[in-house]
Amino acid sequence: MPIVGVETALYGVEDLAASTKFFEDFGLPLLHKSETESHFSLEEGSNVILRNLNDASIPTSKYVGTGVKETIWGIDSEASLDRLVNDLSRDREVIRDGDGVAHFLTDCGMALGLKVFNRKKVTYAPDPINAPGNVNRMNQTRKWRKRALPKTLNHVVFGVADYKASAAFFRERLGFRLSDHQKGIGMYLRCDGALEHHNLFLMDYNTPGIGGVPRFHHANFGVEDIDELMIGANILASKGYEPGFLGTGRHRISSALFSYWKCPAGGEAEYGTDTDYLDDNWVPREWEFRFGTMIWMQSPPPFMQGEIAWDVDFYKEFGV
Ligand SMILES: [Fe+2]
Repeated sequence: MPIVGVETALYGVEDLAASTKFFEDFGLPLLHKSETESHFSLEEGSNVILRNLNDASIPTSKYVGTGVKETIWGIDSEASLDRLVNDLSRDREVIRDGDGVAHFLTDCGMALGLKVFNRKKVTYAPDPINAPGNVNRMNQTRKWRKRALPKTLNHVVFGVADYKASAAFFRERLGFRLSDHQKGIGMYLRCDGALEHHNLFLMDYNTPGIGGVPRFHHANFGVEDIDELMIGANILASKGYEPGFLGTGRHRISSALFSYWKCPAGGEAEYGTDTDYLDDNWVPREWEFRFGTMIWMQSPPPFMQGEIAWDVDFYKEFGV
């Protein structure tokens, strides 16, 4: 199980102060900040690093604009890192730096790094749910929360020219697993050493809201339950931040609760909770775009309103 998740999301930003303030308001733990960098460190050990877009450390790639400019994927061991680097070195330049990161570009020109990473297990204790005839909290209240404090970096999302070709690279060269396919829109991929429904979503850059160019779209940060998600959303709204394209709701693909927010560091930042967890026994499915997008949404945009036909099947490539 070599790749265990995102070790670092390196952002290139235009306004470092505003971007730092956003992630502090969002609830990420700040490790340090300076004139040139802000470094947030989550409980699982993953990192969000913000630097100016023109900083020399921001890799050159085909991906335009602000947002995550390099995703450093965490590897379980030096042996796994060496094996992946040896394979990647067959047909591309791989540069290893003094911090143990191997930097390279994918076939679709996305800047990635690989680094040994001890992704610490985060253990939540969500409050039991009560329903008539199914009382799991007798004489017991739910937690009283003051704010959201995400502990995990669950996934990153990019708009790409050819999502099937990009997904093939991640699957064939880095061992990612296909979780689900949203027909004509994109593929959800899981690291071979992680259990979240997806750690990477590659979407067609002609999907509404992407802009027809390769670019970062959003990053997802894990919270415990719907209460923590909604408190985070309420605090961001009270501070004047704007909801993202899909707002708040529950996806049908992955079953996850979501709350998207426009992020001054680039793209959107998402609170996420109650996702499906998968392993290699999972059989991928393929979905019509709108049917897969939501079970419910707080404020559905016009294209998500009205009757949406049920349209889901197993993914044919797997012969099911
Ligand atoms: Fe997401």
